[in-house]
Amino acid sequence: MRPLLSLGVLWLLPLASIMVDHSPLDCAPRRSVPYHSKCCHLSCFREEGVFNYSTMLLREDLDLLVLGAREAVYALDLNNISKKLASVKWEVTRQQITDCKNKGKDPEMDCKNYIRTLHKMKDNRMYVCGTNAFDPVCDYMSYADGTLSLEKKGEDGKGKCPFDPFQRYASIMVDDNLYSATSMNFLGSEPIMLRSSRVPIRTEFKSSWLNEPNFVSMAQMSESEKSQEGDDDKVYLFFSETAVEYDCYNKLVVSRVARVCKGDLGGLRTLQKKWTSFLKARLDCPVLEPQLPYIIQDAYRWCDPQQQWKDCLFYAIFTPQLDTLKLSAVCAYRVSDISRVFAEGKYKSPVTVETSFVKWVMHSGDIPVPRPGACINNQARKLGITQTLDLPDRTLQFIKDKPLMDQAIQPIGEKPLLVRRGATFTGIVVNQVQAADGEKHHVMFIGTAEGTVLKAVNYDGEMFIIEEIQVFQPPKPIKILKTSNVKGQLYAGSDYGAAQIPLATCERSLSCADCVLARDPYCGWDKVVGKCITVLSKLNDFIFCFRELIQSVKGGDASLCPDADPVTPMNRSVWLGAKLNLSCPSPSNLAKTIWELDNRPLSTSARLQLLQDGLIIFNALNTDAGLYRCLSVEHSKTATYTTTVAKYQVRVAQAGSGKSGGTVSPRVHDGPSVVGLQVVVGLLVVSFFALVAWNVYKGHLPLPCTPRPALAEDKPLVSGRDGGSGNNNHTRGEAAVSVAEENEPEVNLPSLQFIDDESEI
Ligand SMILES: *[C@@H]1O[C@H](CO)[C@@H](O)[C@H](O)[C@H]1NC(C)=O
Ligand SMILES: *[C@@H]1O[C@H](CO)[C@@H](O)[C@H](O)[C@H]1NC(C)=O
Ligand SMILES: *[C@@H]1O[C@H](CO)[C@@H](O)[C@H](O)[C@H]1NC(C)=O
Ligand SMILES: *[C@@H]1O[C@H](CO)[C@@H](O)[C@H](O)[C@H]1NC(C)=O
Repeated sequence: MRPLLSLGVLWLLPLASIMVDHSPLDCAPRRSVPYHSKCCHLSCFREEGVFNYSTMLLREDLDLLVLGAREAVYALDLNNISKKLASVKWEVTRQQITDCKNKGKDPEMDCKNYIRTLHKMKDNRMYVCGTNAFDPVCDYMSYADGTLSLEKKGEDGKGKCPFDPFQRYASIMVDDNLYSATSMNFLGSEPIMLRSSRVPIRTEFKSSWLNEPNFVSMAQMSESEKSQEGDDDKVYLFFSETAVEYDCYNKLVVSRVARVCKGDLGGLRTLQKKWTSFLKARLDCPVLEPQLPYIIQDAYRWCDPQQQWKDCLFYAIFTPQLDTLKLSAVCAYRVSDISRVFAEGKYKSPVTVETSFVKWVMHSGDIPVPRPGACINNQARKLGITQTLDLPDRTLQFIKDKPLMDQAIQPIGEKPLLVRRGATFTGIVVNQVQAADGEKHHVMFIGTAEGTVLKAVNYDGEMFIIEEIQVFQPPKPIKILKTSNVKGQLYAGSDYGAAQIPLATCERSLSCADCVLARDPYCGWDKVVGKCITVLSKLNDFIFCFRELIQSVKGGDASLCPDADPVTPMNRSVWLGAKLNLSCPSPSNLAKTIWELDNRPLSTSARLQLLQDGLIIFNALNTDAGLYRCLSVEHSKTATYTTTVAKYQVRVAQAGSGKSGGTVSPRVHDGPSVVGLQVVVGLLVVSFFALVAWNVYKGHLPLPCTPRPALAEDKPLVSGRDGGSGNNNHTRGEAAVSVAEENEPEVNLPSLQFIDDESEI
């Protein structure tokens, strides 16, 4: 404990100093897209009374999104997931609930069937597993003639699917063999990585193999393809676990990548029916150094179909060990780097020091042949070893004791591709898009616990978040993300529903400058149609082939844009002494908004409040009249761009002047129904007089009286005289307004006027 404390302090001190200069550690999204954004057809799916939509299988062959929820599986239209094509219920029986409850589990939460595994089989059926009230079970499912049906085979799901719906797990189907990483027992205390083949192969139950792990994801790599060493295909597993190698820490969690060989059949005597090829290494994502290691939460395998496996990448998301600083990060790893550490790296070896204390150090002794953990390759075959059952005991004993590599795996560039403060990343998928100039970019779609999806790119080391989209309302943590290249869509699942978002959402940019400054590789400005359109349609549609798209993803160079159409000023009027609200919705969070009145810059003052998305004038004076212009100033890598967002021609109406027809008639609010307001005010006036009459009758009020307006709502329609000297007393924002309202002098009833339209002017 003592070393823990002192080291902890040592590690946290530099952190404090680093946090002072908060330079590249936070990348803010350029655009925030709220849930009710009109643009871009967010389709949703949820069914009343059904929760936990957290398992997905894309069946592009059937045009289906198969969605696993609690006690139900749905087949949704991949083009529009709002369209449910079929569904099947898979509920637990009353007896199962009773059994589960008797074991001390919550009948409402734990004792249900949470669908956890959905994979496609070679014969087009699907393999599906559920937690089944803490008694996992698997089944086969097919989709035919518009119905989903379960075969009710009731296969044992132990080791394939977790007992506990809250426990993390991972699985993948390779050649109809299910590889799963989960817990083997009811208590969730026996972790396992299992291949459910004819002869099942599993991990050794030993803390040096898996130590209180949290499984995150699995991926397959076809490493046998064109392999000169005659290597085998591999299955990779990403997880975090309590480290064994840091002796000075109590429960320090580290991120890991492990891998096994597809052809592994276990050993003959040692490691019988166990992996002989299970090797693992620490996975680093250095966000703030020195710091406690970051913890992996999801990983995504990205491969270019035109290239070989060595060029594949793993994108992984990380969150901090201590959630005091809310930073999340993305790191990317080359599969070839990981593969090399396993194939050539040194091993760690446990050494007993001072009788009981075990320290893990680099193994410097002999390494048996064939190399422990290696797949059966040409070298082994030369020695007459054609399957893992032939491996010598020395090799097997070595791997049984030392599955951990000495070297940690570093990300590409030895630093994160993206860091975001204030968000907790929960999932990632990556899509490659060819920009207008032909260069390919990897776009990361990252789900957060805050219910948003980030669309981000790293341009030659520069982090850039194109947008942050709120996917669920109310915000709910994203539990799963999938992407379909064929459909160009992203699918997200949460406890309360699933949603679908197009990968390209260019229509959100209304101007060329915004389209180019968004630096979205999916989008470019088409000068001919004057729209921000997707580069994908340009590739698919030959009509577009001859058109130039304006795009500058690396530099954000908007100077190529044609001059924007002049903004027509909007007319606004305000009563002398009243408040006016002018809006200026900047398309970018990275832009600064500036306001000008008759070409002179404005700054915040007692009566002027400059907001990020607007301007408020309190207590309007005659001098406030004029042409207001709101400008958005955005710095890109190449230059600074200033665009006019809005213009307002503001008039200040004199009190009482309304009587003489020809003058300006203020209309502060574009209310939905001015007629309705008129009726309300009319009624208020009537009831006001009734009240006065009653008061006078009761003798509460002396005659003659000076009636005061009863309701503030009247104000926009009532022409009141300004309190004159009263203004001098009020100096600050809202307070000034409310006091001004209090000081509203007598209502000049004859001057009450209702104006329907600006055109009356
Ligand atoms: C998806 O389908 C729903 C209902 O069938 C429909 O209301 C919605 O407009 C569709 N969305 C898109 C993007 O086509
Ligand atoms: C299932 O969804 C409910 C929301 O209704 C949530 O409270 C619960 O934590 C979820 N369970 C799991 C296992 O995610
Ligand atoms: C503003 O008012 C002027 C005349 O006062 C008129 O010519 C113009 O069309 C109005 N603009 C708008 C946007 O209504
Ligand atoms: C100003 O108007 C905008 C839109 O009309 C509104 O969203 C905002 O809340 C208003 N601000 C104030 C302070 O009234």
